[in-house]
Amino acid sequence: MQEEIYRSSSFIPMTTLTHEKITHKKDIFELSKNVSFKPYLEDKKHKFILFKEDCFDILPRIPENSIDMIFVDPPYFLSNGGITCHAGKMVSVNKGKWDVSKGVEENYIFTQRWLRECQRVLTLNGTIWVSGTSHIIYTVGSAMQTLGYRILNDIAWFKVNPPPNLSCRYFTHSTETIIWAAKNKNSRHYFNYELMRKMNNNKQMLSLWSIKAPGPIEKIYGKHPTQKPLELLNRIVLAATRPGDIILDPFQGSGTTGIAAFIEGRQYIGIELEKDYLDVSIKRLKDEFNKK
Ligand SMILES: C[S@@+](CC[C@H](N)C(=O)[O-])C[C@H]1O[C@@H](n2cnc3c(N)ncnc32)[C@H](O)[C@@H]1O
Repeated sequence: MQEEIYRSSSFIPMTTLTHEKITHKKDIFELSKNVSFKPYLEDKKHKFILFKEDCFDILPRIPENSIDMIFVDPPYFLSNGGITCHAGKMVSVNKGKWDVSKGVEENYIFTQRWLRECQRVLTLNGTIWVSGTSHIIYTVGSAMQTLGYRILNDIAWFKVNPPPNLSCRYFTHSTETIIWAAKNKNSRHYFNYELMRKMNNNKQMLSLWSIKAPGPIEKIYGKHPTQKPLELLNRIVLAATRPGDIILDPFQGSGTTGIAAFIEGRQYIGIELEKDYLDVSIKRLKDEFNKK
């Protein structure tokens, strides 16, 4: 692709130079015409739409072949009454009702259901990124293979500063996997190789990413129990999309994907069941608008 436009990111200094042509064609407001549910918030100026709905109600109403990139941080089904360590204290691992396991078979059916919808709405060359721990990531990988996705990479996200393992019966859990996959075997996916290289001191970027869990500064508007770091989403957005592209997050939580999309000039559709998390995401987005 021709290098035409140099933009600046207000977020991570190492990404301050990107060089991509704005190619876009479609917009999210056209796409959402068929979605009969009223958005919780839509913002024409900043190009985002948020739905306070079940993603299984919204996804089937989004036209096929319309979304350029999807990030999914689904329920991991790890809220099983266990314990973990937070800020030096023993705390429950439970995240919320939405994260309680339904059993191996039901978890698989649930995962395959949203993966099937995501595959339908992705453009032919579009890609999906799915994060998970061992509780869910093998289910995701298996369902992706069954559906005919083409797996491109499995990123090992090393959390750098993980909490200690209190039981001392396991290695300290310090990674999550992020599967990057294309819609199917015919996809010619987009990868901003040069920018990733530049961000990695002019060396090919590995599939091992060392990124800290989000600190207090990313949680000033409220906490989400599984919030992803903005740096992680920023890298994903830059690696796999062009300015103006349409990004979707069907389990958006506190809206980290939407913030990264906005910072990098992409359009965004976010879906989330819980009002409190949507409200946190709106405060975070407004904060970013004020910085521009
Ligand atoms: C793992 S969290 C996502 C966290 C997000 N990546 C962030 O950075 O804040 C998953 C979210 O999905 C939401 N959720 C669960 N089931 C849902 C559904 N069927 N439709 C929409 N949202 C759902 C939960 O309320 C939760 O906030």
